[in-house]
Amino acid sequence: MTETVLSETPAEGVRQITMNRPDRRNALDRATYQGLIDALAAADADASIRAVVLTGAGGCFTSGNDIKDFAAAAATGVGAEIAIDFLAAISTAKKPIVAAAEGFAVGIGTTMLLHCDLAFAGRGASFRMPFVSLGLCPEGGSSYLLPLIAGSKRAAELLMLGELFGPEVAQDAGLINGVTEEGGALAAALDKAKALAALPPQSVALTKALLKRGSAAAVAETIGTEARHFGERLKSAEAQAAFMAFLTKR
Ligand code: COA
Repeated sequence: MTETVLSETPAEGVRQITMNRPDRRNALDRATYQGLIDALAAADADASIRAVVLTGAGGCFTSGNDIKDFAAAAATGVGAEIAIDFLAAISTAKKPIVAAAEGFAVGIGTTMLLHCDLAFAGRGASFRMPFVSLGLCPEGGSSYLLPLIAGSKRAAELLMLGELFGPEVAQDAGLINGVTEEGGALAAALDKAKALAALPPQSVALTKALLKRGSAAAVAETIGTEARHFGERLKSAEAQAAFMAFLTKR
């Protein structure tokens, strides 16, 4: 079976983690979430690794949670628990994470950027947080972090209307550091990861910890509160109808 998360070391001190379900636009099913959790833990535990690059295969970052898993939630009672575990892992990772996004970054594909330390996107990248149109609610700490970094009006626009937006808006909203030419995000992310890997590692780790310190408790509390509502919403008639519409291409 093809691995849905690839881990490699493309440069000294740099771990590249790639979401790898290109035929599903790298949608995150349970195995992929678990692969990401394991890969982040392995990078944190490996003293030779000093920075992580997070990217997606096939010219796409990720289309977010696998909607088949969401659609099954009402019947199985298994909701977004593994996604919450992933959010806990990425929001508390010790090593710096640099995201490289091309193509689509949808749902948790956008909100996970809030937990990456640096992020770059190619000119053709599109972002979307379609939680409301799916009958869901914000996740990933986005209802706390997005107003903080983007301002309340921009956060309401992006989270309530849930429209597609491009990399310039993403940069303006503070979701990414910079826009590259199409296909250039990974090279930009690897450059910055190599630069981070060349710096004194304890100082880098301490700086990351200090940058997260002020918001860590509120982020953890928000992820938990959002998760409780999200779990309920998953089983709602509104959400189940939206999942069916996507899966049957209505
Ligand atoms: N979950 C499950 N399957 C998904 C998926 C997801 N999140 N995203 C894409 N897929 C599947 C599609 O159903 C399609 O399957 P098929 O080949 O059997 O028809 C395949 O992946 C390719 O997707 P497609 O929609 O044809 O690609 P696209 O390039 O035209 O569009 C997206 C890409 C990401 C814009 C579109 O797939 C999409 O909107 N996906 C859903 C995103 C979403 O709502 N995520 C959840 C957020 S909470």
